[in-house]
Amino acid sequence: MITCKIYGEPVETGAVVDDLDAIAFQSVSEAEISSGDFAFSDGKTVLEFSYPLHEKDIVYGLGETMGGINKRGRSYVSYNTDDPHHRQSMLSMYGAHNFFIIDGDTSIGYFFDTPARVVFDVDTDNSKSVLVTVESKNLRLYTIVGESAYDVTRQFLNIIGPSFVPPLWAFGYGQSRWGYKTHKDIDEVVTQYKRAGIPLDYVCLDIDYMDRYIDFTIDEKRFPNLKDYVSEKKKQGIHLVPIVDAGVKVEPGNETYETGVKNGYFATNEEGGFFHAAVWPGMTHFPDFFQKEAREWFGNEYKKLTDFGFEGFWNDMNEPSIFYSEYSTKQSKLDQALDFLMPSRVEKKEGSKNNSYHDYHHFYHKVDGKKMCHHDVHNLFGAMMTRASGEGLSKLLPNRYLLFSRSSYIGAHRYGGIWTGDNHSSFEMLRQNLIHMASLNMCGFIYTGADTGGFGGNCSRELMLRWLALSDFTPLMRNHSAIATKKQECYRYKNVDDFKRVIALRYRLLPYIYSEFMKALKNKDMYMKPLGFVYPEDERARKVEDQLMVGEGIMIAPVLEAGEIHRKVYLPEKMKLVRFDGENFFEDVIPKGDALIEVPLNEVVFFIRKNHSVVVSKHLAMNTADLDLSDIFSIGYDVPYDQYVDDGISKLV
Ligand code: GLC
Repeated sequence: MITCKIYGEPVETGAVVDDLDAIAFQSVSEAEISSGDFAFSDGKTVLEFSYPLHEKDIVYGLGETMGGINKRGRSYVSYNTDDPHHRQSMLSMYGAHNFFIIDGDTSIGYFFDTPARVVFDVDTDNSKSVLVTVESKNLRLYTIVGESAYDVTRQFLNIIGPSFVPPLWAFGYGQSRWGYKTHKDIDEVVTQYKRAGIPLDYVCLDIDYMDRYIDFTIDEKRFPNLKDYVSEKKKQGIHLVPIVDAGVKVEPGNETYETGVKNGYFATNEEGGFFHAAVWPGMTHFPDFFQKEAREWFGNEYKKLTDFGFEGFWNDMNEPSIFYSEYSTKQSKLDQALDFLMPSRVEKKEGSKNNSYHDYHHFYHKVDGKKMCHHDVHNLFGAMMTRASGEGLSKLLPNRYLLFSRSSYIGAHRYGGIWTGDNHSSFEMLRQNLIHMASLNMCGFIYTGADTGGFGGNCSRELMLRWLALSDFTPLMRNHSAIATKKQECYRYKNVDDFKRVIALRYRLLPYIYSEFMKALKNKDMYMKPLGFVYPEDERARKVEDQLMVGEGIMIAPVLEAGEIHRKVYLPEKMKLVRFDGENFFEDVIPKGDALIEVPLNEVVFFIRKNHSVVVSKHLAMNTADLDLSDIFSIGYDVPYDQYVDDGISKLV
């Protein structure tokens, strides 16, 4: 059962679009707000809500936030932020995913549908309550009552609509690095992977492919004859995936800039001119993605890239990230640089304003014809960019596109996936990657993954192998790293056959992974789930924070600690343990309960649930263009597998 209380005059976020008949809408008057049971207003801008927690309640959800699968014990702030110092204490990340579930004797979900800043205190200091503070008087608050956390989530996924449909190649392994400067760098990557016998489906082009970081331009010296180059790579089974940033460089003579200015498609400043903010290319204007016409225009700008043959893109810096603006000094850029070099500075500043917070109060959008301060709609900005690109790409391309964004809001999953931003090379962030997969799936983002190996810092051989073992199961499987870090392409490490073996598992499992993903998409279901969603009666399973269910039949328990070659695993039921030696699969039945499993560094083990089977490819394909989804056999229990197969590229009708 779903109810929606409407406070004030909320902005249309586009999060809830499906099955509106299933929702009982009700407007809450000002008088009711001030005398309500659990909601009150301070007369200005804040709405507060409080929900009691019982001892055994688990709080699930909140998408891209730090903390555990169970969100109890700390606070979270929805205020999209570009903070590259990923750490447990950070309050905000790149996305605002205001959906959580209190799951105990009863299961109730809440979705705070507002682009405003929202603070969630989830049993902070053992308060035995969830306190939600919405920094606005305008809100749609959805309440979903269900039989279990999973049931509540399914109802939620049903009203926010299904994920965008990525092509099959987007499920292959991708290599990326900030620092590939020329087509020769890309050739080197492709050649080395081939030489190592490691499959590869795409290579990402970071900002250096552009002319001076200007959106929708190409540096023709670094990438001459790009159209031919893209097509030549495609013939080799490799897609190239360029980045697009939110800010359009202020550059008279540049067509994108000129058209934006002429038509008023950019966000405005205090004085009514266009807002100036510095990002990679220097001073930029931000497209006003809140205007329909501006979205259509920006979406159509991708034609400048699709004309070269590109079919996949990643959207970045769209919180939006601001180095400094006409209202802040260059000093803040220096400040950021110092923060980057000395992370201890950031810890000390915890609790202070996030980067760009000041700037966000100084520019404006046209939302439904009304001028609104960016701060009040901040959390929707990145999602609107994704929407503009997704809508544009669906018109420009005859087939499916790949798109993933850094910033997001619930609903953006219908246009593109997300990646979880500038993590770093540590086992702590590997664990967080697993947690994110569970929470993001609850919020509709099923096409997602982290920078495998970590973006910042140097990735050791051990960490890379362990990280690949998790990424083997995440829909987006991309190795990405920052400039100036140690290069982390798999072929650079010792005993490259170990890497081949781990990535080969992904390709052998693709018939299952793709099928389970597409079934989840079509049924508006999760692709990855916490154990408590599948075994709600099992108190032990409900507490597991380091294992996940992948699709219907698989449970994973990756090694998340340095120096470990064993994993303590909890099995809520009898399962088959599967090992893969690079060629063959070996199975062992493991009884319900606790098990200590040996997991050598060059192995990935996983579990197949009792009475489930999994289809695997008979041969190792070097990319998905060579993969025959029907050339399979089954492993696990002797029961039929219901496989979803299509051509991997045509749009779904
Ligand atoms: C941002 C992105 C990162 C990218 C870099 C340069 O930090 O999050 O993925 O490599 O910008 O474009």
